[in-house]
Amino acid sequence: MTDSGFPDDFVWGVATSSYQIEGAAQADGRGESIWDRFANTPGKVIDGSNGDVACDHYHRFAEDVALMKSLGVRAYRFSIAWPRVLPQGRGAVNHKGLDFYSRLVDALLEAGIQPFATLYHWDLPQALEDEGGWSSRSTAEAFVPYVEAVVDRLGDRVGDWITHNEPWCASMLGYERGIHAPGVVDKARAIAASHHLLLSHGWAMPVIRAKCPGARAGITLNLGPMLPASDSAADHDAARHADGHFNRWFLDPVFGRGYPDDMVRDYVARGCLPAGGMTMVEAGDLEAIAARTDFLGVNYYNRTIIRSEAIPEHENEAPVRTLGPEQDWTEMGWEVYPPGLHQTLMRVHLHYGPRKMYVTENGCSYSTGPDATGRIADTRRVAFFRDHLRAAHRAIADGAPLAGYFAWSLMDNYEWERGYGQRFGIVHVDYETQARTPKDSAAFLAKVFAQNAVPQD
Ligand code: FCB
Repeated sequence: MTDSGFPDDFVWGVATSSYQIEGAAQADGRGESIWDRFANTPGKVIDGSNGDVACDHYHRFAEDVALMKSLGVRAYRFSIAWPRVLPQGRGAVNHKGLDFYSRLVDALLEAGIQPFATLYHWDLPQALEDEGGWSSRSTAEAFVPYVEAVVDRLGDRVGDWITHNEPWCASMLGYERGIHAPGVVDKARAIAASHHLLLSHGWAMPVIRAKCPGARAGITLNLGPMLPASDSAADHDAARHADGHFNRWFLDPVFGRGYPDDMVRDYVARGCLPAGGMTMVEAGDLEAIAARTDFLGVNYYNRTIIRSEAIPEHENEAPVRTLGPEQDWTEMGWEVYPPGLHQTLMRVHLHYGPRKMYVTENGCSYSTGPDATGRIADTRRVAFFRDHLRAAHRAIADGAPLAGYFAWSLMDNYEWERGYGQRFGIVHVDYETQARTPKDSAAFLAKVFAQNAVPQD
């Protein structure tokens, strides 16, 4: 680690997830996932698209691994589709589904790329949703044999495991706001889902350690600053709540502090929990969730400015914090705010003290396509990575134990309810031909990876 460089053993990677890239939705006995069901329900996805084909990575993984190798990628974070392994969520293992991941892992190792496997990135088997999904404790129970089956098969070659990706999204977008699968709008179910997601993380940790001694395992949370729009008491209280909902609700229990009291009180007051509070928490649950992790994965995209809705606008103080100008927003409508990455890493480091952290996702959506010469000059994405990498480097200089950075994403893919219009890739995908074309940002990152250096202007 120097003023101009990252630590020598810094892990440079790219990330994807199963439903967003694999396609082959019916291949080799894969069962239906909640995302198949949701995407095929009219009105749920902006362009009516689904992941049936996506980037056809299931059939093109060898080409994709070669592409990563050509970019000097050192680590690849991918996810495993539960319905490929256990088509009905539980029961007999579908070995053909696991064979795919085994082939992928072999190809990665052959290319000198370190596999980081995420066990759950939102594609729950529909059969489990039919029994209540994550709002039911039985789904957390079903996660354990699924993890056993995967680690049994891949644990001899995969040493880095992430139990869950962004349980906030899986619970709150899936069961509170209903904009993600399974599309439920029910705050009580969402809170129960968050607990069962975390519980299944806690239960998975010892399984991974037992089956794969020496493995490094953790969970990935999506985190970011929540700032009050003004210094009014109402805005501060709203920001406290938003931070509790998004950040602390997940960080606190994972780091052994249980669910934050202020949030339990808020949820009871808002009728999302019974008067008794978190009544679904059973003896031993909090201890399980607090299982020792080797690292925390941090996904960072943006910050949020919070305005109180508890008082009428005219009674509130004038905002003193606003998002940056619209030209600094990505096509998702997310503000580009690199200092937020430094703030987030430092907050987690100082308040929770994880042994290690990885940025497991960071990236931006711009639809820049090929010019007349075929070049994809995604200069705004290059600037995005440059500025966020500088922020990450500053956090390391300030003491944060950041051990790696994964760009989201290797290639353009299925952006959930936003369909194929949002492009996050450093590699362009032509969905008609499945041609992959590295963008300027891929060349930029390849240089950073090779030099291990903090990018300059
Ligand atoms: C994250 C998800 C990832 C991708 C990016 C843009 O919340 O983990 O799958 O959709 O956002």
